[in-house]
Amino acid sequence: MRKPVIAGNWKLFKSIGESTALINELKPLVAGAGNVEIVVAPVFTALNRVSDAASGSGINLAAQDCFWEEEGAFTGEVAPKLLKDAGCSHVIIGHSERRQYFGETDATVNKKTKAAMAAGLTAIVCVGETLEERESGRTFSVIEEQIQNSLAGIAPEGVAGLIIAYEPVWAIGTGKTASDEQAQEVHAFIRSLILNLFGQTASDAVRILYGGSVKPDNVKGLMGQADIDGALVGGASLKADSFAAIVNFGV
Ligand code: 13P
Repeated sequence: MRKPVIAGNWKLFKSIGESTALINELKPLVAGAGNVEIVVAPVFTALNRVSDAASGSGINLAAQDCFWEEEGAFTGEVAPKLLKDAGCSHVIIGHSERRQYFGETDATVNKKTKAAMAAGLTAIVCVGETLEERESGRTFSVIEEQIQNSLAGIAPEGVAGLIIAYEPVWAIGTGKTASDEQAQEVHAFIRSLILNLFGQTASDAVRILYGGSVKPDNVKGLMGQADIDGALVGGASLKADSFAAIVNFGV
């Protein structure tokens, strides 16, 4: 059985004070969530204080990106082991906004994922097609290339511990969620790719999250799909009540 993951990507929102306030509001609301891995990803500057605020709550902390080197003359970058030091257990890698605005490629996603794993972080590796790619019938080939290249050279045991997030770019921040069937179709495809590339154990264990306009009113349908193991939530993770309602989808 794969443990469900509900992750909130706070993107470039919230000061340190606003972030810790959100955690403090969230804690009692998700205390009864039971068998759900809860993750929040605040901005870098808030990570350590959010880690303190979340201590003992079972809420896990993710960074929104990392670099692949441990240290050196790399102005502006943050190494995975420093994210661990700040209290992170997870890190989001290759979000479509990073691919779109900051030149992230499958090759850099691959290096970052390996570095994150080496530092003991759980990587949340993002993939997803644009509207143009979907409409021209290239969804599966785009996803296949992203998965193959982003995970190249990672051992099957490593892949088993990864989290993959399928986020169709056209569904992010648009209010247009993929239908349960559209999402399940791609999730099943990703799991079959993992089976072919890394074998049965990795394919059975890897958790695949859906992201793109997940809200309290659509999470249940998505989570009811066989290959959807959780959600990566943007906008609805910025308020305690809506994020808690998503975390508590099964309660
Ligand atoms: P929204 O939930 O705001 O569509 O964002 C999804 C996302 O990009 C999460 O990483």
